[in-house]
Amino acid sequence: MPTLFDTLDLKGLKLANRIVMAPLTRCRAGAGGVPLPISATYYRQRASAGLLISEGSYINASSCAFEHAPGIYTDPQVKGWRAVAEAVHAEGGRIFLQLWHCGRVGSDAILNGAQPLAPSEVNDDLDSLQVYGLMANGRYARIAATPARAMTESEIAQTIADYARGAANTIRAGLDGVEIHAANGYLPHQFLSPTTNRRTDAYGGSLENRLRFLREVTEAVVAQVGAGRVGVRISPFAAYNNTRDPDPAGTTAAVAKMLSGYGLAYLHLADTNAWAGSPDMPQLLAAAKPHFGGALIGNGAISPEAALASVADGSFDMVAFGRSFLANPDLPARIRQGGPYNEPRYVGWYGGSEEGYTDYPALAG
Ligand SMILES: Cc1cc2nc3c(=O)[nH]c(=O)nc-3n(C[C@H](O)[C@H](O)[C@H](O)COP(=O)(O)O)c2cc1C
Repeated sequence: MPTLFDTLDLKGLKLANRIVMAPLTRCRAGAGGVPLPISATYYRQRASAGLLISEGSYINASSCAFEHAPGIYTDPQVKGWRAVAEAVHAEGGRIFLQLWHCGRVGSDAILNGAQPLAPSEVNDDLDSLQVYGLMANGRYARIAATPARAMTESEIAQTIADYARGAANTIRAGLDGVEIHAANGYLPHQFLSPTTNRRTDAYGGSLENRLRFLREVTEAVVAQVGAGRVGVRISPFAAYNNTRDPDPAGTTAAVAKMLSGYGLAYLHLADTNAWAGSPDMPQLLAAAKPHFGGALIGNGAISPEAALASVADGSFDMVAFGRSFLANPDLPARIRQGGPYNEPRYVGWYGGSEEGYTDYPALAG
């Protein structure tokens, strides 16, 4: 059986090991969502991962839930990402970009006055939605979500085209692929759940209809960059951003089955509730694995020891680490020698400059 440190051929892309950096929003982009040189430094420091997955990067002007997240729809954004790709590749690393649309998890305060767009007008839970803005004093703080409105069919078609453009821009910037963010209560996840998707057209109602948005996004992105450069992240069990799926196991199985036919780079199973100490990975894995033929990434409060075991026993092909990669730029070397590990500090988690971003030390020597 393989180990966490074995190489992996990901549809022709050679990964140095099976340790993945999970996508982590860090809110360091400059004006207009342009990645700055400090982000190239941050990703370069972590390039010993077999695969880096970037922070969520918004695909159009109405899709950002965290002010100062980066975007992937303008030429200056592409230029900023190119510097990141070059820095990672110079260290022999690989990087996918996470394509993100916040959907109803938004605020007109950071969408330049525009109303957030969603599958349906479900606005009974705005207090549960995680939207963040930068205060005038430089502090980054949670702000109120504002009511969303239902997307028209032509807005859905335009949004799907914007995912495809984001994927094309990612490859143009020189990154190795894209991950479609269909987890954590954002737009594709909102379409999957019958609680947040109450549409009566072809995108809502039956499970098959609720899968349609993710299927069409996947097909558009695959048509643009090729299936081997596309991963999808899901978390149907997640409580984060309150999508309230009454049958998360059924949704997981259906998504895995639907995606299995495309020959994607991977399916990324995010056990989001595990961050808050209530893991669902056994159910998530049991629902997805029998239906998905390709590589699986597992994530969510997985210790290095559990990661070693779960690759060795074939549960996952790769394991992604979030908070421990945030705090340990050289995480693979530390896992290999059994630690020690820096503890993540909350300072600089979202927004700011070097502190809590590029100042975590690597092992000496
Ligand atoms: C600061 C921070 C930012 C995050 N940003 C994203 C993101 O942009 N996209 C995403 O899919 N998940 C995001 N997550 C979730 C992580 O990818 C991961 O699922 C979570 O941290 C649990 O993994 P861990 O226990 O290894 O940290 C974020 C988590 C943290 C702590």
